[in-house]
Amino acid sequence: MRLLVTSALPYANGDIHLGHLAGAYLPADIYTRYHRLKGDDIIHICGSDEHGVPVTITAEQVGISPEVFTTKYYKRMAESFKKFGIIFDNFSRTSYPLHHKTAQDFFTRIYEAGDIKPKTVEQFYCTKCKRFLADRYVEGICPYCRSPNARGDQCEACGKWLEPTILIEPKCKICGGNPMIKRTKHWFFNLSSYQKKLEGWIGGKKHWKSNVIMFCSGLFREGLKERPITRDLNWGVSVPIAEAKGKVIYVWFEALIGYISSTKEWAEKKGDANLWRDYWQNEETKLVQFLAKDNIVFHAIVWPAMLLAHKDYILPSEIPANEFLNIEGEKLSTSRNWAVWLPEYLNDFEPDPLRYTLAVNNPETKDSDFTWKDFQVRNNNELADILGNFINRTFTFVIKYFDSRIPPSHKLDEEDKKFFKKIEVLPKTVGELIDRFEFKKGLKEIMSLAGEGNRYFDYKRPWETRKNDVEVSEKTIALCCSLIATLGTVLEPYLPFSAKKIRESLGIEKSVWKNSADNKLTGKNVRNPGILFKKIEDEEIEKQVTKLKEMRADA
Ligand code: 2FM
Ligand code: ZN
Repeated sequence: MRLLVTSALPYANGDIHLGHLAGAYLPADIYTRYHRLKGDDIIHICGSDEHGVPVTITAEQVGISPEVFTTKYYKRMAESFKKFGIIFDNFSRTSYPLHHKTAQDFFTRIYEAGDIKPKTVEQFYCTKCKRFLADRYVEGICPYCRSPNARGDQCEACGKWLEPTILIEPKCKICGGNPMIKRTKHWFFNLSSYQKKLEGWIGGKKHWKSNVIMFCSGLFREGLKERPITRDLNWGVSVPIAEAKGKVIYVWFEALIGYISSTKEWAEKKGDANLWRDYWQNEETKLVQFLAKDNIVFHAIVWPAMLLAHKDYILPSEIPANEFLNIEGEKLSTSRNWAVWLPEYLNDFEPDPLRYTLAVNNPETKDSDFTWKDFQVRNNNELADILGNFINRTFTFVIKYFDSRIPPSHKLDEEDKKFFKKIEVLPKTVGELIDRFEFKKGLKEIMSLAGEGNRYFDYKRPWETRKNDVEVSEKTIALCCSLIATLGTVLEPYLPFSAKKIRESLGIEKSVWKNSADNKLTGKNVRNPGILFKKIEDEEIEKQVTKLKEMRADA
């Protein structure tokens, strides 16, 4: 099986926060790591989205050129992803020449096929700032849900895809002035003519998440409309039409093509410039695109229509869009600075407790909430007290009573067999759940068996049998070690740093996702991995909550 996994390209206009991680990057990483352990041919592609108004507006606000600004955030994002254990096969930038060329070629191809046409339109123009106000340069009241501060491209509150000119009481985002209407020429993508095909295509995706299906059927009911895909901005990919000099391609239109450019870059780095074709142009490849719900319209409607128009590429097989992650019961908002930022988190804590909390609480089918208290409870009561404790007591026993060597499992009694059976099927159960994007359930299966490991240990009382029936004590501990070895594999996608420590303490170099427990452990040397999960004190949590509130006050 060949898999091409993508995660939505984050805007290079700020740091990565927990909403990003829960929405796309962590699920994508879990999925990719799992398939890699299974031995599948899989690549995870991403990059930074460096054009468009989200970038220019923020760069302008801080008074830095977009080049310098995006370079700073590209580096910061790449670094925090790495520290958090999110592995990309390539993390590119849409400002790279390879992307500009790929996007322009794509545009030209569908322009020549007749799917892009010019039209003179009326647009907002700010006389004070002397420029056209594209997308987020205008804010106003959303005509659909009436919430204030809707942006010209999309309303954050109701998720509707907007056009600046339909906003009520529009204002220039930079100077707050009332914009005037001015005529300009733009090029439109003929989205409406793809409605039938898209409906048929999505109609065949019965197993897709309901958020994606519902969103699309809503748009189909309204009827797809042609969309302007050029902008009057001076930062972006130039429109490859002589007549459109000075205009750039709409950021969404080109950023989506960034998935292809990043794969091309990956292939070049691999030393085989054509390798990307196996992924994008081979019907046998499964394209799996991770994103959060605010990106559904672009990935499930615009992008497939673009791919259909281009004709040379495969369509997404899966679009496992997540809902949103709230923070302490409130909607995450970067403008109000109500967010937990990854670089700051990583200054204070290890990656795995957060990976755990976000995975176990993943907004898979509905919005979920991150609270610092829950983070502490999950770490202390689940990771430390259940998982860490089970591993620690087992290894301590081996080291102390069996000269650090894993004892033989002898002849299993009924209880042992039942327990062993559960260990054996765990990888299969978890794997199937991950494959269905049910990451939460997968992790819960793992933790529940770790909890059962503790109960098995207590029930078997190896500290007593050691004195009167050493074989029983040995097989109890052997089975506990077998579970730990399996945990070292199935935890790898979720908690890669801890899983590595677990495997190292068992001398297992590389784990393979097998559908049976590793029972060739007898005689292996065990090292104590030390404390796997440090308890988090109340003061540390209080400090974080205070910081969050102070940051908002400052914003
Ligand atoms: O919402 C965002 O952060 C966008 N930058 C996602 C772009 S995904 C794709 F187009 F690359
Ligand atoms: Zn203005």
